[in-house]
Amino acid sequence: MRAYGFKSNGGPEVLEEIQVPTPRPGPGQVLIEVAYAGVNFAEVQHRRGEFGEPDGPGGYDVPGLEVSGTVAALGSGVTGPVVGEQVAAYLPAFGGYAEFAVADADFVRPVGGLPLADAAGVPCVYPTAYGVLMDAGRLRAGETVLIHAAVGGVGSAAARIARAYGAARVFGTVGTGSKAQLAAGLGYDALFVRDEFEDAVREATVGRGVDLVLDPVGGPVRRAGLEVLAPFGRVVTYGDLGRHTDWTADVWDLWKNNRTLAGYNIGDVARRSPATIGEYLSTALSALASGALARVPPTVVSSSDVVEVHRRHEAGRTHGKTVLALAGHTAG
Ligand SMILES: NC(=O)c1ccc[n+]([C@@H]2O[C@H](COP(=O)([O-])OP(=O)(O)OC[C@H]3O[C@@H](n4cnc5c(N)ncnc54)[C@H](OP(=O)(O)O)[C@@H]3O)[C@@H](O)[C@H]2O)c1
Repeated sequence: MRAYGFKSNGGPEVLEEIQVPTPRPGPGQVLIEVAYAGVNFAEVQHRRGEFGEPDGPGGYDVPGLEVSGTVAALGSGVTGPVVGEQVAAYLPAFGGYAEFAVADADFVRPVGGLPLADAAGVPCVYPTAYGVLMDAGRLRAGETVLIHAAVGGVGSAAARIARAYGAARVFGTVGTGSKAQLAAGLGYDALFVRDEFEDAVREATVGRGVDLVLDPVGGPVRRAGLEVLAPFGRVVTYGDLGRHTDWTADVWDLWKNNRTLAGYNIGDVARRSPATIGEYLSTALSALASGALARVPPTVVSSSDVVEVHRRHEAGRTHGKTVLALAGHTAG
């Protein structure tokens, strides 16, 4: 089958079109003929080598954490989806940038009425957004939320989910002023430029601060997020876009100021509580299909443009969700 992979870590140009054996579903697994593959920042990290060197078939790794498509075959013991059904799937072991992908049945759910292109951007992004907000962040109705990297895949999903679960006010930060105009369409009260967000948050909350900060950026942004917390506020860390690996928190600062620092990782949840991922995936697909969560259609790009798509993600030049169209499906 055709896939897009890399055999050495590096820049976007290491991604190449390759031919690899079509995977076979093992016990409890589902083979999916991929229609669309979601593109995530984690795949930039995978390609760069932050998850180790490639070691797949032929020495290639095929990235891709989430797909939509049609069930092509079932492994033994699978009682969930049926062959021919349209599904979305989370792939913790990657492999989505390909004509076929194998997923554990725990992470496969029917798309319901949602278009396949939209559904491809749900299986990693939405369980992460629910987990960061509800499980790590302990969001309660009436609270004020601040979301860094606000218009990226996870950020733009989190804003609408926070609103749906009763957040009173939702603010976000972006790298450049030009992205601030996207606020209303994604459910934000306001978007601030990240370099200046502390003063903007204090002004918007009349000095009180926010109850919950979602932070995949790290470093000085994480430090400043703690400073704008209201009493008993939480900063949830779930990424390190700025690659500030040496930042450490001061426990006395947390203790003396009633601040909480929490962490979230979808891979760890998938290992320890796979049902949680399946439940959040079902919740998201049906909320988006019914309109309970507003749909924000993805940017659909041909899979042959994967190098350029990675370039844009790495430079922070995307907004919302980008999905790759595999053979026979339409790129916008
Ligand atoms: N822990 C987990 O389980 C989990 C699961 C999924 C994703 N994540 C993490 O969540 C983050 C967002 O993922 P995503 O797929 O939603 O990303 P995305 O769609 O590619 O959006 C990322 C956005 O982050 C902003 N950004 C801030 N600092 C950046 C930097 N140094 N380099 C590049 N972009 C930067 C950029 O926008 P602006 O600068 O304009 O704001 C960029 O558009 C990533 O760190 C990812 O690893 C974690």
